Amino acid sequence: MNPLRTPITASALALAAALAFSPLAQAQGAKLKVGLMLPYTGTYAALGNAIENGFRLYVTEQGGKLGGREIEFFKVDDESDPAKATDNVNKLIKRDQVDVLIGTVHSGVAAGMAKAARDNGTLLIVPNAGAGVVTGPMCANHIFRSSFSNWQPAYAMGEVMAKKGHKTAVTITHKYAAGDESVAGFKEAFTKGGGKVLKELSLPFPNVEFQALLTEIAALKPDAVYTFFAGGAAVKFVKDYSAAGLKKSIPLYGAGFLTDGTLDAQGADADGLLTTLHYADGLNTPRDNAFRLAYAKTYKLQPDVYAVQGYDAAQMLGIGLAATKGDVSKKADFAAALRKAKIDSPRGAFTLGANHDPVQDFYLRQVTGKENKSIGVAVKGLADPGRGCKM
Ligand code: BEZ
Repeated sequence: MNPLRTPITASALALAAALAFSPLAQAQGAKLKVGLMLPYTGTYAALGNAIENGFRLYVTEQGGKLGGREIEFFKVDDESDPAKATDNVNKLIKRDQVDVLIGTVHSGVAAGMAKAARDNGTLLIVPNAGAGVVTGPMCANHIFRSSFSNWQPAYAMGEVMAKKGHKTAVTITHKYAAGDESVAGFKEAFTKGGGKVLKELSLPFPNVEFQALLTEIAALKPDAVYTFFAGGAAVKFVKDYSAAGLKKSIPLYGAGFLTDGTLDAQGADADGLLTTLHYADGLNTPRDNAFRLAYAKTYKLQPDVYAVQGYDAAQMLGIGLAATKGDVSKKADFAAALRKAKIDSPRGAFTLGANHDPVQDFYLRQVTGKENKSIGVAVKGLADPGRGCKM
């Protein structure tokens, strides 16, 4: 072997390796690593699965590629546990070296993800968690949400309940960021409309021992109850509220998570409940009908709001990647494309506000059989106030 050849071969190899990992090479064909950090166990497991289903459905509809790049998935079960959020997100950022993070459901976990995304400059799209901090004080050029802020559906319901003439309300929720922010959003609109919150009840997440709190509601005798619960906890709350005999005497309202993806398990106990959310059954638009048909065919399940949010997170990623020819390092161009985009969602088209949270319609829905039937738009084009966001 000619010894002079060795260094040439080594440097050629080094050059080839460097090119393989360059943004140009990535843009030209390396797989895009998508890190899904979602709850696959616990109270919010069904929500995490629906988000992943929706995300994958959109990618499949695009032939498995976004912005010309094939998608490779990496998954972490975050268990809706904020204490594990930093370790879990670092598995995706540091170990798997993902290009983009998609997650999560629980607001406390999402706050940890947003911090890691900011510290590492990793692109993040939040497909559910409504934590105000994500699109408030922690907002950034490379952080986006495809769902809602906790303030939004709650504010819409505060308006609805005040307009219905309810003068007093009791609130009940899990004691963590999502519950606290939901109650605050509700209270803001309800008091503006002349209502008064008599008491704010809560229990630690994910505790579902509601009995003592239900007894307190009965004693307080408010005109109505506003609640934020989701997933398995929402199922149990609606059943317990009805079993306690309260459904007949004190009308129950909620942010729409109370009855979304839960109706099979809640059965007749959910009948008639009114909620507000950015998605509903029976929208009957060509866009939603096509989505619902594709989702049902693929998963043998009806989609819910979480599936829509996952689907739209993939759409948003696709829009950013199309504008940057698949190069996620071009953060300014990625953000500019999304800021001017009209996202063609099954919920109805929406845009992003300056803080990267959806500006969207909130439907008033009523449970009829196994559906959250839209009975109109409660608030049109509602934007999160983006308090604390400086970009
Ligand atoms: C949250 O923690 O932000 C959340 C969880 C479930 C449904 C909606 C919001």
